[in-house]
Amino acid sequence: MPAYERFSRFYDAAMDDPGPRAALVQDFIDRHHPDAASLLELGCGTGSILARLTPGPSLTGLDRSARMLDIAAQKVPGSRLIEGDMASFSLGEKFDVVICVFDSLNHLVEFDQWTSMFAAVYDHLNEGGLFCFDVNTVGELRRLGSEPPWVYDVEDNVMIMDVSCAEDGMSSWHIQIFEHVGESQYLLHEERIGELGVSLWRIRSALESTFALLEEVSDTGDPPTDDSVKAHFAFRRRP
Ligand SMILES: C[S@@+](CC[C@H](N)C(=O)[O-])C[C@H]1O[C@@H](n2cnc3c(N)ncnc32)[C@H](O)[C@@H]1O
Repeated sequence: MPAYERFSRFYDAAMDDPGPRAALVQDFIDRHHPDAASLLELGCGTGSILARLTPGPSLTGLDRSARMLDIAAQKVPGSRLIEGDMASFSLGEKFDVVICVFDSLNHLVEFDQWTSMFAAVYDHLNEGGLFCFDVNTVGELRRLGSEPPWVYDVEDNVMIMDVSCAEDGMSSWHIQIFEHVGESQYLLHEERIGELGVSLWRIRSALESTFALLEEVSDTGDPPTDDSVKAHFAFRRRP
């Protein structure tokens, strides 16, 4: 079963407000491709970003989890949603903008999958098209791995999220949701989700022959480093 299938039902209630993430993407589009007529989101999940990019381009989302897509279909009824693997996809069409946000890219746990995704993005962008994505940095994944587990109330349920980190940049997110099903009864839903941290230098190098870097920014608005929390990128497809 792909990751997020068990988590999907709780995902929107458990996650932070997606508004600021969507606003950053919208700002990149407004400044770098204001006439964009079509957009593809890779790892679109429950459609929280797609739902906030309107009015605007025609919207397509791709995700590996059918259950996340079921929720997206309700939230963004005007979008086209496709079940597939963003590491290797072939939709037979091109878009003005491709996005991949909220550390979806880190979910590809081998760097070969990142480069194969970059090649697929190139093939699916019109000339001059915009590619926006963000990553959890190597430093952030290491920091999260050293912290104690987070415990949240998610509506009537309890969620525990524990990140552990290995030397090679791999991290494992152990997510446990204790669903409140009776007075003192809980049903456990569990997921382990891998994330790979990659140095910003390696990411830029992998893209430089096919994409021109337009902008990169950390979560604080400064230039990102491998110790920032997040790095957000906007690239333009080269001819
Ligand atoms: C952290 S969520 C982000 C969802 C959405 N972008 C947002 O901002 O709310 C990561 C998403 O990436 C999807 N995903 C992970 N690996 C994938 C893959 N290889 N191909 C397609 N989707 C994938 C997961 O199913 C999940 O929906």
